[in-house]
Amino acid sequence: MFYQIIYFALSFMLPIALSNLFENLSHINAPTNIRIVEQHLGDLKFSWKNNLPFDPQYHIKYVFEYQYFDSDNWSNEVRLSEAEHEGIFELHRGLYIRIKNILLYDNNKMKESNWTVMRKPPSGDPETLASNVSCVVYNYSYMNCTWQNGIKVPRGIQYKMYYRQEDITTECPHYFTDFEGRQKCHVGENGIELDEHVLICINRSNSSLSIMPYYTDFDPQLFEIYNPPVNFEILPNLTVKWEKPPGYTINDNCFQYQLQLTELSGNNHEFFYVKVDTKFVLVNINLSKRYSVKVRMKLKYCKETMYWSDWSNELFLEPTEQLDGHVMIIALLLLMITAAMLLTLVFRRYKIIASSSIPDPQKKFKELIEEHNGDFQTWIGYHTLITKHEECYTVVVEETIISEA
Ligand SMILES: *[C@@H]1O[C@H](CO)[C@@H](O)[C@H](O)[C@H]1NC(C)=O
Ligand SMILES: *[C@@H]1O[C@H](CO)[C@@H](O)[C@H](O)[C@H]1NC(C)=O
Ligand SMILES: *[C@@H]1O[C@H](CO)[C@@H](O)[C@H](O)[C@H]1NC(C)=O
Ligand SMILES: *[C@@H]1O[C@H](CO)[C@@H](O)[C@H](O)[C@H]1NC(C)=O
Ligand SMILES: *[C@@H]1O[C@H](CO)[C@@H](O)[C@H](O)[C@H]1NC(C)=O
Ligand SMILES: *[C@@H]1O[C@H](CO)[C@@H](O)[C@H](O)[C@H]1NC(C)=O
Ligand SMILES: *[C@@H]1O[C@H](CO)[C@@H](O)[C@H](O)[C@H]1NC(C)=O
Ligand SMILES: *[C@@H]1O[C@H](CO)[C@@H](O)[C@H](O)[C@H]1NC(C)=O
Repeated sequence: MFYQIIYFALSFMLPIALSNLFENLSHINAPTNIRIVEQHLGDLKFSWKNNLPFDPQYHIKYVFEYQYFDSDNWSNEVRLSEAEHEGIFELHRGLYIRIKNILLYDNNKMKESNWTVMRKPPSGDPETLASNVSCVVYNYSYMNCTWQNGIKVPRGIQYKMYYRQEDITTECPHYFTDFEGRQKCHVGENGIELDEHVLICINRSNSSLSIMPYYTDFDPQLFEIYNPPVNFEILPNLTVKWEKPPGYTINDNCFQYQLQLTELSGNNHEFFYVKVDTKFVLVNINLSKRYSVKVRMKLKYCKETMYWSDWSNELFLEPTEQLDGHVMIIALLLLMITAAMLLTLVFRRYKIIASSSIPDPQKKFKELIEEHNGDFQTWIGYHTLITKHEECYTVVVEETIISEA
């Protein structure tokens, strides 16, 4: 019971005592004994001592920042409770790190030390450093990296490339040198896991030539080249559809597709972008022209990949039936002749109707009946002076009567 009371009292008293102590300090020491251990490819582990003459208990925090030699700014600060830190760095750029102690007490009152700065220069001659390093991940788990050897390095010196994932460092299994002297590393099936960062180091030991190691790390999903969309087809209603290639586990909503429509005679390209959906209705198609269409994909909405996939197979949109030139001209001539004939006929017919109004048989035959007593012969004779032109009318009129009878 007694000890409990003491303990209880102390647990109140100690922070107050420490707060007073902190308040009265004119300065606090900066950290010392910074140690840097290079664990893996650019993966560094830091540790240090706070260098305070008393135990600050849980009141202390450490602030960690870094800056590359070629940069003008310090990184964002990291606040730590333990006197250690780990991070991945591009060590060939040269690195400053700085650490300070801060004491926190009495509701956000704070005292801080000066920074302790440490420098980690790169090792080796910068003119031996690999440059223009770039990697792509493709076909689910393959990787190709390329780089240019340093200008000071004689041609034919093979740099080594190491990569690290899931706590395993592996040397590149296949090296190539292209005719321009660029070097390439090819990593085959199951080489790369897509959901973990890849660490890379390109170095080389040689008794007479020490090469400055190049370090980088990247998220393989950002440098992935997807396999192209599959089952690409054109439906009769001018809808094209396709599917995401199998085996990709990323959410469908992350993908963007690009369609290229080419009008083949003019070689005019048109691009369409499709978000998430795997179909598209082709618009503004001139049905008398021939088109080709293809589709490719990339990650766009969750992360954005650097590269498009390859194009899918290309499909063709054939023009609807079209007559060739000669047939067209003949057809056109025939059409014109027929039209002319028809017009003539219609014109004649129209003229009859217009000039003779509605034929009245009673009227026409009145003469025959009243003056010739129905004698057809004499009635005919009476009409011998009729001109050819008028005769023509008469015949037609008679035909009309007959057909109406
Ligand atoms: C801190 O300084 C004040 C006066 O400024 C003094 O009264 C107090 O005793 C000091 N506390 C400690 C722990 O030194
Ligand atoms: C902190 O830095 C300032 C300026 O550089 C210096 O005057 C001061 O003595 C330093 N304090 C300690 C505790 O080293
Ligand atoms: C860097 O590499 C890319 C291909 O990976 C190439 O197109 C480019 O020309 C190279 N740049 C230099 C400066 O070598
Ligand atoms: C792509 O990977 C599959 C296995 O996942 C393999 O069978 C195929 O040969 C690879 N294709 C290429 C072009 O590397
Ligand atoms: C990767 O390298 C291999 C071997 O040189 C080559 O066959 C393949 O086309 C390359 N693929 C990509 C996407 O760069
Ligand atoms: C190159 O890097 C690998 C992986 O970190 C390492 O095992 C090897 O000793 C390094 N070689 C040189 C010459 O630094
Ligand atoms: C080291 O590099 C030189 C060229 O600078 C080369 O002649 C020699 O064979 C290399 N030695 C080894 C052990 O690779
Ligand atoms: C086109 O046809 C397909 C299947 O025949 C149908 O699912 C789709 O809705 C049609 N699209 C349009 C725009 O009519």
